[in-house]
Amino acid sequence: MRMMVTGGSGFIGSHVVDKLKDAGHDVVVLDHGVKPHRDDVGFEDVDVVDYAAVLGATEGFDYVFHLAAMANVNHAFADPVYAVKLNLMGTVNVLEAARQNGVGRVVFASTVWVYSGCNGTYVNEETPFYMPGAGHVYSSSKIAGEFLVHDYFNLFDLPFTVLRYGIPYGPRMRKELVIPIFIDKALDGEALTVAGDGRQYRNFIYVEDLADAHVLCLGREAENQVFNLEGMRRITIKEVAETVQSLVQRDVRIDTVPARPGDYRGKEASNDKIKRVLGWEPTVDFEAGMKKTVEWFETQRMA
Ligand SMILES: NC(=O)c1ccc[n+]([C@@H]2O[C@H](COP(=O)([O-])OP(=O)(O)OC[C@H]3O[C@@H](n4cnc5c(N)ncnc54)[C@H](O)[C@@H]3O)[C@@H](O)[C@H]2O)c1
Repeated sequence: MRMMVTGGSGFIGSHVVDKLKDAGHDVVVLDHGVKPHRDDVGFEDVDVVDYAAVLGATEGFDYVFHLAAMANVNHAFADPVYAVKLNLMGTVNVLEAARQNGVGRVVFASTVWVYSGCNGTYVNEETPFYMPGAGHVYSSSKIAGEFLVHDYFNLFDLPFTVLRYGIPYGPRMRKELVIPIFIDKALDGEALTVAGDGRQYRNFIYVEDLADAHVLCLGREAENQVFNLEGMRRITIKEVAETVQSLVQRDVRIDTVPARPGDYRGKEASNDKIKRVLGWEPTVDFEAGMKKTVEWFETQRMA
């Protein structure tokens, strides 16, 4: 089938591209100013904020995976106007272009951050959003994106799948994320800094596990469905630091700094639905995934 991956030159998108190629699909990346990591895929150098360009680029696809976004919450904190423009305008442009071009389905990259303000620690796809507690412009832009996806289905019959990603890690991670920062610092023998008390946790998910779900969701069972893609277990930021510390085999210090504004404190998003419907569950445990990640960063240094 013909697949378009917006943001396919980015961290998660590049792994989605790999899995779609492994499954035998014809893949085109839509990204802006950043080429794909492999040259056996097509490339449309298009700004998702430019509707006419998106319309021109998305003709003839069975699926559009929409990942292009401002993914870094600190950047969204620094520039909320552009964050909303890119995340929301980009999404409506992709949806409208998909509708006009008769694309078979749009798969929307959302996040477990949409649960930020929800009551309780345990959440699933039925848990309602709590508007006053979304907590971050980034989360609000994704919640609003999900609303648009539903609107396009309700108003225009455009099929969708929403994937709410947990926090991924793995080779090709963006440098500004906490795991690469820790790895780089540790490889340089510098101290690792942990925000707050270090007990805040994420159910980190290995990026290839996440990418596998994009291939599994191509079937009819995933049409017009929302799925969480959460990691296996709670991993505290302190454990991340300690895992990096042990994998690089250096004696690096761990320091603490104040918590970030609007930080997502962590919810347990259930994977029951996607396991039941698509048979997906994460398979790579944190230590194994971190070993591959550290090895990849070490290789990058040697290249
Ligand atoms: N990394 C995470 O922790 C995480 C967690 C949950 C959800 N997500 C979502 O997953 C998706 C991918 O995230 P990522 O971590 O791979 O981010 P990334 O920054 O590595 O990738 C985003 C890609 O979008 C492209 N892009 C940015 N602006 C563009 C524009 N105007 N036009 C076209 N392309 C543009 C970038 O060049 C980049 O290749 C995003 O939608 C993000 O919100 C990420």
